[in-house]
Amino acid sequence: MAPTISKIVQTLQPSATIAMAGMARELRAEGETVYDLSLGEPDFDTPAHIRDAAVQAMEDGKTHYTPAPGIPELRKAVADDYLARHGIQYKPTQVVISCGAKHALHNVFTALLNPGDEVIIPAPYWVSYEALVQLTGATPVIVQTTQASDFKLTPGALSEAVTPNTKILLLCSPSNPTGSMYSPEELGALADVVIEKDLLVVADEIYERLVYPGHKFVSFATLHDELPERTMLINGVSKTYAMTGWRIGWSMTPENVAKSISSLQSQETSNPTSVSQWASIAALSGPQECVTEMLAEFTKRREFVMKRVAEIPGLSCPEMGGAFYAYMNISEHLGRKYNGVQVDDSTTWCLELLSQKKVATVMGSAFGTEGYARASFATSMENLEAAFDRIEEFVKK
Ligand SMILES: Cc1ncc(COP(=O)(O)O)c(C=O)c1O
Repeated sequence: MAPTISKIVQTLQPSATIAMAGMARELRAEGETVYDLSLGEPDFDTPAHIRDAAVQAMEDGKTHYTPAPGIPELRKAVADDYLARHGIQYKPTQVVISCGAKHALHNVFTALLNPGDEVIIPAPYWVSYEALVQLTGATPVIVQTTQASDFKLTPGALSEAVTPNTKILLLCSPSNPTGSMYSPEELGALADVVIEKDLLVVADEIYERLVYPGHKFVSFATLHDELPERTMLINGVSKTYAMTGWRIGWSMTPENVAKSISSLQSQETSNPTSVSQWASIAALSGPQECVTEMLAEFTKRREFVMKRVAEIPGLSCPEMGGAFYAYMNISEHLGRKYNGVQVDDSTTWCLELLSQKKVATVMGSAFGTEGYARASFATSMENLEAAFDRIEEFVKK
């Protein structure tokens, strides 16, 4: 008899983005040409000076366990970087290095949440937030936003969602999946409610270096003197430096939370990968032209994608302030047949687009909103051109 899976893990769905990318990979293995817009993974190589630092670390024998919260040199580099770019002073002891930002989020939620606590998550949201909260036994409270308001949570909607059990508000700006960004004023208005209602905030700032002209990023904790003690900042090297496979992210929190996360991590993973930590110091402290160059390329792709989405009848998406996703409104193209297949929801639409046109996107339902599909433009211009031609053929037919 097969072993019984725990109740909490039984309820988990596999990450939809990873599942779609897996399907694209399988089709490719069968010999199909697939245009994969599913994964939020920069297609660039990790810059050479970062790779060199990893090789050097290996040569220097830095291949053993490290302190549980990460090597002091990287914790300091993270704190120095936030001070230099955002003017906010964190002590290195407030920084805990983890195995990717996803792990840092898991640590923060596990350290802070008890069953019965509520976490407010504005939808559309990144696929893993809901699952990571559920794993702690706490309750995700999903608050819908609208395309008309650029998918941003308003102070009024936040106030209404707060109950005596609310502990945390989750904010992700620039947003995955919509690319929308809160202005400093909008964040300030949310911060007022956070303080008034005595909430904590998990601010996922993983896309803060991928911000497009005309938009300005401010780190949430800088907006009010009271916010550093209420804010758990999440960041990492995956998106900024094309380092997804190195698995380095971090949390920056009040010191007691950092200590608890460090204990938790010492029991879970011992420490993040040694060599990757040394490479991440080179990323943060070394030349930053690579970031500018990658952003310039993403900027070109964003222009192209916005133009193509606007040209295809019945499609639209909000203007992306940051990150590398177009959140396409496909609702006008639901409720009809595609090559004889009835398509009524975003899941079927994305699966048929993949099966009929070999273009992989991710269904809006995975991000908590029906009627949308997310297209990542962290892929080459040739792929984007071919993929959008096929999307156009698909919806026009
Ligand atoms: C909003 C957001 N937060 C966190 C992560 C996780 O990043 P990492 O690769 O560092 O675990 C992702 C990755 O897709 C993301 O989009």
